[in-house]
Amino acid sequence: MTTLLEGKDILRTDTLTDEELDVILSTAARFEAQLEDEGRLDNMAGQVMAAMFFEPSTRTRLSFESAMHRLGGDVITIADPKTSSAAKGESMADAVKVVQGYADVIVMRHPRKGSAAEAAAAVSIPVINGGDGAGQHPTQALLDTYTIKKEKGTLDGLTVALAGDLKNGRTVHSLVYLLARFDVRLIFVSPAQLKMPGHITEDLVDQGVDVTETDDLAAAMRESDVVYMTRIQKERFDDPEEYERLKGSYVLDMPMVEQAKDGITIMHPLPRVNEIKEEVDAYAGAAYFRQAHNGVPVRMALLALVTGRE
Ligand code: CP
Repeated sequence: MTTLLEGKDILRTDTLTDEELDVILSTAARFEAQLEDEGRLDNMAGQVMAAMFFEPSTRTRLSFESAMHRLGGDVITIADPKTSSAAKGESMADAVKVVQGYADVIVMRHPRKGSAAEAAAAVSIPVINGGDGAGQHPTQALLDTYTIKKEKGTLDGLTVALAGDLKNGRTVHSLVYLLARFDVRLIFVSPAQLKMPGHITEDLVDQGVDVTETDDLAAAMRESDVVYMTRIQKERFDDPEEYERLKGSYVLDMPMVEQAKDGITIMHPLPRVNEIKEEVDAYAGAAYFRQAHNGVPVRMALLALVTGRE
């Protein structure tokens, strides 16, 4: 048992300590094994999770809800802001202040960067960021790290290519800060318009991470143990014509997999639009559906740790 994360918010990955990361990953592995043995646990019996989603989601919301159910807890949900009082103009801060009287932990997704931190400042129960605009998506990054460890056995010594919309993709903004804790080499693959924000690349270089930037996905895949594809984030573009120009930047197909480094693992936070052809799904190293399923034990760990129920 550990109280390391009890009462804490999970808002971003760069502020997580190495010890906290270790505890999250090991607790997730324990829950995954326990689920296989016991089917359902009761750690969160009597606890309520509020899922407040002001942006669309399939995986994050449903895997958090599944995690809470599998821990024996209860769930209340805003799945569509049009059916909440946000549609009447209620502020997000007022909404979370009210909801803290109904729940023991809040999981929130919101289109505005920084919104999860604002929510956390307004309430005294833990807030977990389920994605704040083009900001961060820490729980996705944690399940991505868990997935790489499961698929490859280790993170040390790996070359990881991150490809697509690195400017707006909040999953990669969070993931790189976790990968930086390990002995990894990172290759950022994007069109010039969608490069990783400079301040993030600078942070990584300052931490001694070996980072290369390119627009050539095929070349990056020849050197990489893992390629992490991302969707071009249509909803973050001010100019629809620019989205149309960039949306087909990278389409991973079987000929590209065959030319890649042997045994390459292919990941994607999903949803995919057209970044990975369906023909790739049958490739043994196509890990994106396994990755999505890993969201349940990782989110079980987060819920239990922040409420002191692990
Ligand atoms: N990966 C991810 O965040 O998926 P959803 O948008 O469906 O939650």
